[in-house]
Amino acid sequence: MTQFQKIKQELTNSPKTWMITGCAGFIGSNLLETLLLLDQKVVGLDNFATGHQYNLDEVQAQVSPEQWQNFYFVQGDIRQLDDCQTALNYYDNGVDYILHQAALGSVPRSIADPLLTNSANITGFLTMLTAAKETQVKSFVYAASSSTYGDHPALPKVEEAIGKPLSPYAVTKYVNELYADVFHKTYGLNCTGLRYFNVFGKRQDPDGAYAAVIPKWTAAMIANEELLINGDGETSRDFCFVENAVQANILAATANDAGKNQVYNVALGDRTSLNTLFDSLKIALKANGVDYQKSATYQDFRAGDVRHSQADISKAKSLIGFEPEFKIQQGIDKAMPWYINFLK
Ligand SMILES: NC(=O)c1ccc[n+]([C@@H]2O[C@H](COP(=O)([O-])OP(=O)(O)OC[C@H]3O[C@@H](n4cnc5c(N)ncnc54)[C@H](O)[C@@H]3O)[C@@H](O)[C@H]2O)c1
Repeated sequence: MTQFQKIKQELTNSPKTWMITGCAGFIGSNLLETLLLLDQKVVGLDNFATGHQYNLDEVQAQVSPEQWQNFYFVQGDIRQLDDCQTALNYYDNGVDYILHQAALGSVPRSIADPLLTNSANITGFLTMLTAAKETQVKSFVYAASSSTYGDHPALPKVEEAIGKPLSPYAVTKYVNELYADVFHKTYGLNCTGLRYFNVFGKRQDPDGAYAAVIPKWTAAMIANEELLINGDGETSRDFCFVENAVQANILAATANDAGKNQVYNVALGDRTSLNTLFDSLKIALKANGVDYQKSATYQDFRAGDVRHSQADISKAKSLIGFEPEFKIQQGIDKAMPWYINFLK
């Protein structure tokens, strides 16, 4: 039995109360679905800045009516202390674990509007920490980012060796780590950061200028539109299927003392070039009846992007028992029917 199977069994036998910020977004709604299916109680906070009511509706459709009754949603903003406190105090016995996902993602968005990204990602983060430290919460797990590695050239990336940030977004995610560490030292709040590496899967938004590469390309290919690759296509990423990220959150929240107050890489520990990704998406689409025949068009490299990214995940493996279940092609194959259904 893996550590994740063991923890899921324990949670089912003895349900806990969780708070998810950003629960109407991509990763947050996947966390919500998994926790409700495990009969956990969940309170969610989201202001729909980039999340959607239809993500919550979809989760509702995936769980039983009884499980849906275990969810309470607060429409509010992590920059408002009152909203954070309302969510944290909704249940009489408070919240056992916080999974803080709410933030404005996207490097280009942060370059276009650094003030906005700063307010959601730093002021919002600090406000949530401030609300959390007044409660009995057992741990505060937060979405950090691989962008914190910045210009450090080493591959694979190990948690201790970071470089200088390459974008305002990366600054905000690094500041989160600094605040989390200080809140642990100063107030005794258990804080664990998960440096996600290019998470993908169902409910990742394909729309808008700031869409991530997998949903953006998938949407373009389903619509039979021209596909643009930044640079020569040999830029690589450690793409991580969302269910692996969900596992990491649950393991980090429930970790023993040795596993708490750490920062972990959350990825596969593998590296896939954009050219290979393009081929993988074509294969998965073809298996679902979409035969994309166009070749890609190459354009300039994008500002703020790092050239290669690959995680060393041995720290999460040894301290919290993280074992990613899904390789990239398995994740793409699982996500594709959802995209085809969503975009048709
Ligand atoms: N998806 C990735 O590959 C990736 C990689 C590294 C880090 N992350 C981090 O993971 C977290 C979740 O990302 P995602 O991909 O699910 O993005 P997402 O945009 O789908 O979800 C973020 C959610 O946070 C909510 N939100 C934003 N600002 C808020 C505010 N001020 N108050 C309340 N809610 C607010 C949005 O409405 C949205 O529902 C983010 O912190 C992001 O920076 C994601």
